Amino acid sequence: MDINFFYEKFAEIYGDADKRPRLFFAPGRVNLIGEHTDYNGGYVFPASLNFGTYMLIRETDKTLISFNSVNMKFSADVGLDKLKETHDGEWIDYPLGVIDQLIQKGLVARGAEILFSGNIPNGAGLSSSASIEVVTALALNSLWKGNISLVEIAKLSQKAENEFVGVNCGIMDQFAVAMGEKDSATFLNCDTLEYKQVKLQLKDHKLVISNTNKKRKLSDSKYNERRSECETALSDLQKVRKLPNLSALTTDEFEEIKSLISMPAARKRAEHVIYENSRVLKAVEAIQSGEISKFGKLMNESHDSLRDLYEVTGSELDTLVEEARKLEGLAGSRMTGAGFGGCTVSIVRENMLDNFIEQLEKNYKAKTGLEASFYVPELGAVPSEIK
Ligand code: GLA
Repeated sequence: MDINFFYEKFAEIYGDADKRPRLFFAPGRVNLIGEHTDYNGGYVFPASLNFGTYMLIRETDKTLISFNSVNMKFSADVGLDKLKETHDGEWIDYPLGVIDQLIQKGLVARGAEILFSGNIPNGAGLSSSASIEVVTALALNSLWKGNISLVEIAKLSQKAENEFVGVNCGIMDQFAVAMGEKDSATFLNCDTLEYKQVKLQLKDHKLVISNTNKKRKLSDSKYNERRSECETALSDLQKVRKLPNLSALTTDEFEEIKSLISMPAARKRAEHVIYENSRVLKAVEAIQSGEISKFGKLMNESHDSLRDLYEVTGSELDTLVEEARKLEGLAGSRMTGAGFGGCTVSIVRENMLDNFIEQLEKNYKAKTGLEASFYVPELGAVPSEIK
């Protein structure tokens, strides 16, 4: 990220180069294991990334907030009396959704000039949305003196996405982005929001993110359909058991009553959720005791379950994972995020890293005709003001 260029761009758009704006950052995230469990009250284990969204902001006396982005064409001046209006799915709905939540919390909106710049690929399943939400909340909480905690920032950012943008996502992304800690992943119980930062001891291994470069958008994917299938499964089970959510069941309990779920697809979705929760618990234990190959095996099982039971992978993600598994040095590989395209996450022995990326790029291209992109990120970035 070229910070000087970013400041210059701000001055070019808004003028008055002497009056320096403030700079804020929020990371993206990669989920290591625990997929499609968050909205079922389950466990997740995501880590924040050293790439994310940067935001420059300067207060003005005007009665409007101006939004610009280095990455996006669309820009807008929104009157302080029009902050509640949405803009046909344009990117400014993410910061506006957050502003809407802050106003509901009693903060008073004031005029501002804002410029965003992000280095997370959009629609790749690395939480560019949560990142722009959290950086907006962080900056405005500071400027508008909200005194809102990071956990609350995560919660209100999720609400912004649910209510303003209209994507029914769970809490994982916003929580991982807001609570990111250096060299750690966040082990989170999405029902109680109890969490623990776990140091990532990957020893002689590295984490590699591979992008299928098949774009997807959560709003037009089957995300909401999967959620409602889980609700159907839950309501069938609630006829015989008092259950707050699917994740309240152990795998043994599930096996005893699973036949009560009448729709076969709903039964498969529930089975994924319940076994995925148990994999997260085992995976966190494995990473804490430095058992990388066990962690990798659980990642593999997670992907297979997302492919066969949850049915959210698709041929590009499956190909990337299958080809990765043929290569030397791989501990494990799985899709990450919502699925239907986006990225995979793999753990690879450091001395095989170059060969891994080279071969995977070649083999994926041969099978799909698509160019994959690869990132070897630093894990555990913290959202903050950069001074
Ligand atoms: C998206 C959502 C999250 C979570 C994942 C799947 O990233 O935003 O809340 O449901 O998909 O695990």
